Amino acid sequence: MATQLPDARRVAVEALTRIEVDGAYANLVLPGILARSGLPERDRAFVTQLVYGTTRARRACDWFVERFAHGELEPEVRAALRLGVFQLRFLGTPPHAAVSATVAVVPRRVRGLVNAVLRKVAEAEDRWPSEAVRLSYPDWVVDVLTADLGTDRAIAALESMNGAAPVSERSDGYVQDRASQMVVEAVGARRGERVLDLCAAPGGKATALAGAGAWVAAGEIRTGRAGLIAANVDRLDLSPLVSVVVADGCHPPFGAESFDRVLVDAPCSGLGSLRRRADARWRVDPEAPGRLASLQRKLLSGALPLVAPGGVIVYSVCTLTQAETVDVAAGFLDEHPDLEPLDIPGEPWVKWGSGALLLPQAEGTDGMALFAWRVPNATKKSESPAPARDQP
Ligand SMILES: C[S@@+](CC[C@H](N)C(=O)[O-])C[C@H]1O[C@@H](n2cnc3c(N)ncnc32)[C@H](O)[C@@H]1O
Repeated sequence: MATQLPDARRVAVEALTRIEVDGAYANLVLPGILARSGLPERDRAFVTQLVYGTTRARRACDWFVERFAHGELEPEVRAALRLGVFQLRFLGTPPHAAVSATVAVVPRRVRGLVNAVLRKVAEAEDRWPSEAVRLSYPDWVVDVLTADLGTDRAIAALESMNGAAPVSERSDGYVQDRASQMVVEAVGARRGERVLDLCAAPGGKATALAGAGAWVAAGEIRTGRAGLIAANVDRLDLSPLVSVVVADGCHPPFGAESFDRVLVDAPCSGLGSLRRRADARWRVDPEAPGRLASLQRKLLSGALPLVAPGGVIVYSVCTLTQAETVDVAAGFLDEHPDLEPLDIPGEPWVKWGSGALLLPQAEGTDGMALFAWRVPNATKKSESPAPARDQP
């Protein structure tokens, strides 16, 4: 075992270097590197913990590295130093073990440097220059969430998204975060109802809706991602109930009033599910919430005419920004004052405008915002009758 741990760290340094130099996605690059490593399962789990943890804590680790290592660092040396800091300051590895095991995996010519820097880091105080550095997020993410949620909620949300995402499996074996399962419950689809999931890939909610016995149309703009829905539908044996449709949800190709329920689980900045992908926080850009809010408004406007009189439209996003949640919902309601906001789930959700917000710290789920409205029974706009109920 003692000889395997340095190997695990060497594999972690290789992955971290690839992520840094090639801009590779952590979750895409790591499986291949692990497969080639020949490491036993237990060590692979350790490498995964090291790579994802160091990637999340990158900014905080760099703050320590830059205090004691001056000048240009080769990517591999920087990766090893970050890894060493992560073990020392976040993983609680005893200093002698963290330092010597990390030094052992770097080239001989830089061992002195890595050893000296990590020894200083082990003894250094952590007077963090900001919460964004301490929690290791881009400044703008901390600023937006603090402005939108208030400081206490924002910091607790950011702290909770520094942990790894727990795995929760549905009764049919599909792995789906509890927050998403709660969105499906809020849609409330019943056997035989016609339901549209406008933005459906990879099909988590669409398959759950079909699992409740509804006829489901699963829309998705990207062909490749639509294939993921089809694969999940096949695997769960739900083909008779789910039709996959490649389409732009802003201009959906369905007849007016053809669904009892429409779910708009819209693309979003993902600031509520940052723990799910270790490098997501470094990839999302500050313009994303504003840009996506206008797409979200278009998707809702595209979806509304498809809801039958008395039917329900549900809007959900796995983010926590006001722009993509309460602002989108309020704008939609302003344009359609005849919509009736529906009761939102109780605890652990909190009231959020006319809808509800699930903070990631509440129960360790993804963060999620949810709004639901009932379309009035008597609609003046429609002249065409709703199609037969046994045709999704
Ligand atoms: C939040 S994900 C949906 C997750 C899905 N409902 C589930 O539970 O598995 C949003 C999806 O919307 C798709 N999308 C983006 N723009 C779209 C558009 N204009 N029309 C339809 N789908 C779109 C994205 O490709 C992405 O797959």
